[in-house]
Amino acid sequence: MSEVPATDKSPSQPKPRKFQAIKGVRDLLPAETPLWNHVEHTAHDVFGTFGFAEIRVPIIEPTELFARSVGLETDIVSKEMYSFELQAFQEIRHFVGKIMSSQSDPLRFTGWLHGLVGALRSAWRSGRIEHSEVNRQTVKLLEEIYDWLYQKIADDKVLRTAIVNPEIQAHITDAVSIAMRLEISPDTAVLRPEATASVCRAYIEHNMQQLPQPVKLHYSGPMFRRERPQKGRYRQFYQIGAEVLGGKDAPGIDAEVIEMVMAFFDKLELRDVQLDINSIGCRECRPKYVELLRAALVKVKDQLGPDSQRRIETNPLRVLDSKVENEQAIIATLPRMAAHLCPACAEHFAEVKRQLELRGVIYKENWRLVRGLDYYMRTTFEITAKGLGSQNAVCGGGRYDGLVELLGGPPTKGIGFAIGEDRLILSLQESGKMLPPQGRDVYIAWMGEKAFATALRAARDLRAAGFGVELPPTEQKFGKALAQADKLGARYALILGEDEVTSGDWTLKTLADGSQTKYSESNLLDHLRKNITSSL
Ligand code: HAM
Repeated sequence: MSEVPATDKSPSQPKPRKFQAIKGVRDLLPAETPLWNHVEHTAHDVFGTFGFAEIRVPIIEPTELFARSVGLETDIVSKEMYSFELQAFQEIRHFVGKIMSSQSDPLRFTGWLHGLVGALRSAWRSGRIEHSEVNRQTVKLLEEIYDWLYQKIADDKVLRTAIVNPEIQAHITDAVSIAMRLEISPDTAVLRPEATASVCRAYIEHNMQQLPQPVKLHYSGPMFRRERPQKGRYRQFYQIGAEVLGGKDAPGIDAEVIEMVMAFFDKLELRDVQLDINSIGCRECRPKYVELLRAALVKVKDQLGPDSQRRIETNPLRVLDSKVENEQAIIATLPRMAAHLCPACAEHFAEVKRQLELRGVIYKENWRLVRGLDYYMRTTFEITAKGLGSQNAVCGGGRYDGLVELLGGPPTKGIGFAIGEDRLILSLQESGKMLPPQGRDVYIAWMGEKAFATALRAARDLRAAGFGVELPPTEQKFGKALAQADKLGARYALILGEDEVTSGDWTLKTLADGSQTKYSESNLLDHLRKNITSSL
């Protein structure tokens, strides 16, 4: 019996697994990306008119950056960050594990010790292990033991007896206990959950305090939070944000930043947005208010759910955020920050509101708006939009004087916001805003070798003039080519056959009405320029 060759369809071959994007992340397809691009370009333009320049910060940052700024107790830091160990720490841990498990084999032990010493040296040089006295001593001792072992092991005679050589064994035991003294804190990085901390880090790292103040920066890009996915809430989502760093804490800056977001939404024709503002006080007045709030909450503790009960201890302000139905009536009776602001904060807040009014920005004061990140003080604001269900906050922001200092920089004022781009797009789409994907302006239908050479030239010239051109790579009958042009939504078909090439008169078919006109090569470009550009 002849052997049947295995084919792709052979039942013995398992079907390759089909992949899907992981939970909470998604593809943005060509039907959607024109609107995303439009939103991003508009942000660039509008923010530019307010004097903001673009900054691009990394997607990966040290874990500690967010632990210190956003706050250890926040949901974002305590449970939502995607973190991983950096290479240097992994490598050191790997080699320490290897020397521990090869203590009875001096030759292998020495090899792994060599690896460990090398990894430590490079981690030391790049500052990835702490430059402490203990670490300095440890690395030095391990190097010495390695050199000693290497000399001994290099001697063949000793190698044969190494296993039973008590002097070698003593050195191995020493090396292991010395390695255990290394002071290495896990060197971890995270996918950024937000970008304010990154922008502050960049401000410090690049000495931006030496630039004319304030420094006004805007950014956009993906952020990552391991939240429960739902409509408008993703694990990879996009933010468009802006930060003002340095200079004064003049209320006019707060008002201008808010005015800028509203101008941006206006330009995008995002309707029915609501701006809520609040002041959460400063280091002087907030702690006193928080204690007052805590005391009031303790009295009603039994009537609160488990989350709010826990927050009485960890962060009483967050209780004000609660959406739990039967807590609402109790929360309405709690003391309010506005009545407990210190004179400076009260004055600042009053001036922010006055300046918003001067700028014609409509706002609603919301005493329960506390925001879920620790770095805020004084002004906080949030903007909600229509058509988003429960995840309707499309922008959040506030003042964060002191954050730069907390991250090791000089005392610096700061305020900013971030817009959830996914939600912004959803809301625009819900209101019927769609932009067509970039279609082809011209489909070139060609037949014959000579026509192909002309088609190549026409495609090159049309593209250089900025038109979208589809040039089929293989010859097609005109009927089939025109049907394909129709399917692709092209506006024109340029028909190039023997006749056209010989006469120099090219046929241009308008696909919407089927009309055909002949043009010379140069007239064709003029005609397309006039017709396509004017209808954009
Ligand atoms: P945030 O309130 O955590 O603030 O986020 C800002 C916006 O990002 C939210 O209002 C929302 O539109 C969007 N957003 C947050 N999480 C998700 C998610 N899982 N899926 C979709 N969209 C989401 C900050 O991030 C601060 N850094 C804002 C800021 C800048 N404050 C001062 N400067």
